[in-house]
Amino acid sequence: MPQGAPGAQTRPGQLFWHGVINVQQEGAVKMGIFHTKSIAEIIKGTERHALKKTLGSLDLVLLGIGCIIGTGIFVLTGVAAAKYAGPGIMLSFILSALACGFAAMAYAELAAMIPAAGSAYTFAYASIGKLGAFIVGWALICEYTVGAAAVAAGWSGYAVGLFKTAGIDLPKAWTAVPADGGIVNAPAVLIVAFLTYLLVLGSKESAKFNKILVFIKLACVALFLLLASPHVEPMNWQPFLPFGLGGVATGAAIVFFAYIGFDAVSTAAEECKNPNRDIPIGIIGSLVACTILYIAVAAVLTGVVPYASLNNSEPVAYALRTLGMNFGSALVAVGAICGITTVLLVMMYGQTRVALAMSRDGMIPQSLVKIHPKYGTPDKITIATGIVVCILSGLLPINIIAELCNMGTLFAFCVVSIGVMVLRKTEPDALRPFRCPAVSIVAPLAVLFCGFLISQLPTNTFLFFGCWYAIGMAVYFTYSRHNTLLVEKSNAEFTLRQGHLENGSAETTGL
Ligand code: ALA
Repeated sequence: MPQGAPGAQTRPGQLFWHGVINVQQEGAVKMGIFHTKSIAEIIKGTERHALKKTLGSLDLVLLGIGCIIGTGIFVLTGVAAAKYAGPGIMLSFILSALACGFAAMAYAELAAMIPAAGSAYTFAYASIGKLGAFIVGWALICEYTVGAAAVAAGWSGYAVGLFKTAGIDLPKAWTAVPADGGIVNAPAVLIVAFLTYLLVLGSKESAKFNKILVFIKLACVALFLLLASPHVEPMNWQPFLPFGLGGVATGAAIVFFAYIGFDAVSTAAEECKNPNRDIPIGIIGSLVACTILYIAVAAVLTGVVPYASLNNSEPVAYALRTLGMNFGSALVAVGAICGITTVLLVMMYGQTRVALAMSRDGMIPQSLVKIHPKYGTPDKITIATGIVVCILSGLLPINIIAELCNMGTLFAFCVVSIGVMVLRKTEPDALRPFRCPAVSIVAPLAVLFCGFLISQLPTNTFLFFGCWYAIGMAVYFTYSRHNTLLVEKSNAEFTLRQGHLENGSAETTGL
């Protein structure tokens, strides 16, 4: 078995030499912006602040579905069908699924190969180096934190709608952001605060809560399909491409949001009982399940009502109401709230794990990394994430944050797909429990498809993304760049000390 591979046999003293080599290499190459971490180093690093290993493959598939099915299918499908793709939204889902599917293969290979918290950030550190890792980490913060804020805002919209249905009109000042004439989106802030509390309690507890909500939302999606499909009117699918293929492409860039989340599974790698088997099952299983459901929902939705009528904040419930099924419509609305809640939970979970990985490396303050002795979770990072998501969702409009989220995610997917090709070259012998099939075709296709979807996003999104990276680069060059050097030194010393200890114990046991 190759050295450095997960599960490789480590001889006593081997770590000592690993440490010596690290210290000797503390020169320009090891400490520069292209400094990469070996896979062994990454796995070793996780042992210093180890998370509890409590999750199995079913937990992961549900974690994935929990993060995937949400605002995208319940809200954006209707908007994208009405404004961009028409009934051709089914093709948009296929186009987006292809981009995600190719990227999922890359994710699955790297997540199984490098079972450490941090997802694409960790993979980038192993493949393209420190600065590249920071850039990806910054994109992931954008994906999870900004995306969670958008989802919280969507949750608030549905919650306010339900209150209204029950005859309670919540004041606009406390349910709308300043740009929409309010003061703060209080329901969004409250749900984020509650989920932050759950995440501090622990992954297993959160996974249990997630499981219940996932089953409720799947039941509601199934209910919609059951109730609505007998009423499909093929005439509603004509014309199939009212906005041409260009509309399908723009629709794909929008409904891409519906797929965001499968990558969050890989951020849980460190907490899996058997990451090498469970992570690929978790990622690919949840992606396949969701793609089938999305295409079915899109087909039925555009089949039961004219696509142009779907541009509203609750298209799935609206379609059932139009068919005269008010009770079914209310049930589906409750399911949508459950669905959106699980997405929020998993996105915030993913963000805390990326932040954990980044703070371990000194990219962001390391004092945040401490694991709570009782709950076994990174409580400080979790709370810090919760506060940022509260501020964003409480004060910013949903469309701006959702588009930014898409951009960050697509960018991270591109880097992961490049990373898998780089690591095939730089670590050809590393143990790969899951190999991306036909990597020389699949990985470039992932970059191509994700790059194409990026090109379909509005110009404003590029501007916001540029601002986000201007802030990121300021953080990197004023803080992370210097601080990571200190952490690299401390890691090398830690490894060296451990090597001495293991060598000592090897001598005393006569090995
Ligand atoms: N995929 C997630 C959703 O649709 C982000 O809400």
